[in-house]
Amino acid sequence: MPTISVSLEERSYQVQVANGALDTLGYMAEKLRLSGKAAVITDSNVCPLYAERVIQSLRDAEYESSLHVFEAGEQSKNLRTVEEIVNEMVADGHDRSSFIVALGGGVVGDMAGFIASIYYRGIPFIQVPTTVMAQVDSSVGGKTAVDIEGGKNLIGAFYQPKLVIADPMTLLTLSPRVLREGLAEMVKHAALREPKMLQTLQRLSGEIDLGFTLSTIERLPELIAQNIKIKARIVEADEQETQGVRAFLNLGHTLGHGIEASVPYGELLHGEVVSLGLRAALYLSERYAGMPTNEAQEVLRTLRSLELPLQLPPNVDTAKALAKTAFDKKFVAGAIRFVLLQGLGRPILSQEVTQEDLAEALHMLTTPTLAF
Ligand code: NAD
Ligand code: GLY
Repeated sequence: MPTISVSLEERSYQVQVANGALDTLGYMAEKLRLSGKAAVITDSNVCPLYAERVIQSLRDAEYESSLHVFEAGEQSKNLRTVEEIVNEMVADGHDRSSFIVALGGGVVGDMAGFIASIYYRGIPFIQVPTTVMAQVDSSVGGKTAVDIEGGKNLIGAFYQPKLVIADPMTLLTLSPRVLREGLAEMVKHAALREPKMLQTLQRLSGEIDLGFTLSTIERLPELIAQNIKIKARIVEADEQETQGVRAFLNLGHTLGHGIEASVPYGELLHGEVVSLGLRAALYLSERYAGMPTNEAQEVLRTLRSLELPLQLPPNVDTAKALAKTAFDKKFVAGAIRFVLLQGLGRPILSQEVTQEDLAEALHMLTTPTLAF
């Protein structure tokens, strides 16, 4: 099974990617010498699909567990849900020896990881990601967070999991919309580090209309592992985003987060706003970083082939999106650090992008893409 190591000194861990890996959870927890009781945190969609298997796997390894389920969706990723789950965990007798299993997409992973970082001042946790987004991106790297009214992910902690178990078979139950949005982060990885992957993703596009089939799933572990490696190497170089390298992963996210926070949470999926943000970043990259047009077009072609949005839905108010962008964490001392591409595989951090540029890019997103 592809195993990727994330090397961060005493915070190092492994990411296991394999069809069927879900059932190895209990065995792997034992190997990590986790001794206490497990709190399985999941959402209302994932619970009926996979919770029983996870609990059985824990039981097989003689772990007691409790189950904590919240309503699926970004609108639940907040401090209210955190407090509810923490209270449940206390009532179920979890203490410092307990560990958390985050079973679900990025919303579960971000919030359960955050709970792990604060429960009794920090207990271990295992990520069991069940969306493309979570398998290739959010479960790896230790960024945990919840949203507040003021903006996305504004309360959180860097807190690495002890293990990530990514089972691509779980992607079989995803809706095509959720499948597609996760692929946006793969497009981002390809544009940052491995442009050849753009063609692989274009080929994949024809296979997702009705959800992934088994034949696609068989080929997925390699592609998922390739993406995790890209992310892992960046995280190793700059765990807490202080060296300017991890910030490259924010390509497409600055305006993306502003757009996401400008409508009710959950209305636009994270990968959908990343797709919009990528189009804006390509537009600014051509203008300010000399990105060749044909290279920008190749990324746009991939996003379009995956049927990811490239034009703002009419209900997005660009002024509100701009205002929300101003609260994003990519601002440092009031100046924005915007990720641009000089070309495919050549990101830079620019402080040149102004508020006016952002407004112009948002306006550009209201227009259709030209044929290419
Ligand atoms: P999500 O967790 O809301 O999952 C999307 C939908 O799919 C939900 O309705 C969920 O219930 C459902 N679902 C999950 N797994 C399923 C399965 N196997 N079968 C059927 N349905 C399933 O959203 P997401 O796209 O996975 O993640 C988005 C979140 O991740 C955002 O909050 C974003 O901010 C965060 N994120 C964090 C990082 C990070 O580095 N921490 C990186 C990228 C994204
Ligand atoms: N998703 C961006 C990061 O992990 O840094």
